[in-house]
Amino acid sequence: MKSLNITCNLEVYDSCEELPQEIQDLMDRAIDARDKAYAPYSKFKVGAAVLLDNGEVITGSNQENASYPSGLCAERTAIFYAGAMYPEAKFLKIALSAKSLNHRVITPIPPCGSCRQAIAEYEVKQESPIEIYFMGETGKVVKSHSLKELLPLIFDNSYL
Ligand code: THU
Repeated sequence: MKSLNITCNLEVYDSCEELPQEIQDLMDRAIDARDKAYAPYSKFKVGAAVLLDNGEVITGSNQENASYPSGLCAERTAIFYAGAMYPEAKFLKIALSAKSLNHRVITPIPPCGSCRQAIAEYEVKQESPIEIYFMGETGKVVKSHSLKELLPLIFDNSYL
């Protein structure tokens, strides 16, 4: 038996203002998108903004459904739309912000496992890292320089 220790390298910023203006602008787009979320069931609104290498910013928010599993997270709403609109573009950076209508979200909210897997597909396809920045409604921002930091041992097409 051999044990395997996997580390994850992240940067934690006290607030968005510590980050470059470009990231603050991208986070502002995620916050605008967050406020457009359709989340009548969870009351948990998430916004995503994706910066593409062609300069476009694609945003998305979570879209819930009375049949709960039919809803979709903000991240996948945004990246699937980006992939559909600009199939040749690379994803450079993704900003995420979450807010609850029930309590103040001050903890950075990372993308869920399904969204990590979905983002991984594009990172593998484009052969370059996607930076991910995530926060709650206010407070600290976490930066991951690549999806791989958030999802070690990814399942990708090399296994197929
Ligand atoms: N949600 C997202 O949009 N992204 C995530 O990464 C985590 C969860 C949404 C899904 C659902 O509408 C609500 O947040 C509560 O889970």
